[in-house]
Amino acid sequence: MSDINIAVVPVAGMGTRLLPATKSQPKEMLPVGRKPVVQYVVDELSRVGVTQLLFITGSGKTSIENHFDLNLELTQSLREDGKEELLSELAFERAPLQYFYTRQRRLLGLGHAVLQSESFVGNQPFIVALGDSIIGMHAESKIVEKMKQCYQDNKAVAVIAFEEVPEDEVSQYGIAKPKKNTGQEIFEIEDLIEKPSVQESPSNLAVAARYVLSPSVFEALRKTKPGAGDEIQLTDAIRIMMQNGGKVYGVRLSRGEKRYDIGNFGSYFRAFTEFALADEKFGPELREYVKEIIDVDSSK
Ligand code: G1P
Repeated sequence: MSDINIAVVPVAGMGTRLLPATKSQPKEMLPVGRKPVVQYVVDELSRVGVTQLLFITGSGKTSIENHFDLNLELTQSLREDGKEELLSELAFERAPLQYFYTRQRRLLGLGHAVLQSESFVGNQPFIVALGDSIIGMHAESKIVEKMKQCYQDNKAVAVIAFEEVPEDEVSQYGIAKPKKNTGQEIFEIEDLIEKPSVQESPSNLAVAARYVLSPSVFEALRKTKPGAGDEIQLTDAIRIMMQNGGKVYGVRLSRGEKRYDIGNFGSYFRAFTEFALADEKFGPELREYVKEIIDVDSSK
């Protein structure tokens, strides 16, 4: 089988939990450390061999297009001003990736967003990476590589990344019922439930923003009725594929592959803090500063 090198990145969500920061800018463009969230996602995909990438956008998301375009005027002006060192910050503009954009014109859920990619994807397996989630510090994760391998080794119809979450958070995620919950890195899935209550949750393994999918998902998506939150859910479509006899696998994120979800201020602040503290140039100084203000605060 040829390599899986196309990816779909949904970025249409309104980001209401991050208002007012997201009133007139996409949440995917919020900086985490030095880069906007979505740049980490693209860097990760580029590193695992993605060559064509479709963003599923919505209104108010044009700054994402601008970000990944060449900015020749800026390059020229940096050159003229002798600011050569800053040019390297724009090297990502020249990554060997071809970008495509389409709009999800009605926000009917993640499944509906992925359905908009059908004519782009055609009849080949593809990656879905949520544009508001960074995997691993500096997005150095190779999880998608493992997922592609698992997809091919097991003739799967879907492979999903998972992470363990605390029990009281299961209702925010898609949750897996593994065939055997033996704690293994790669496991087969028997069922999936989108945003279950604690009582009905079959495990604490939560879908973690990365998928490798067979194009048969489109047929399943067309049959998918609105589910949790009255939205067309991707997990429900994958469930239909399972019911049709397709094999679905999960791959656990390893310890170093934490998921940074930029969906609310709590997780955004944590992500920003960790990335800023890890910054090569400013991290050490920031660490001292944070220590100092925490000490002053606790001595009050
Ligand atoms: C989506 C998916 C959910 C998954 C989560 C994090 O939910 O529907 O299954 O666990 O992303 O990857 P959302 O955060 O869009 O509500």
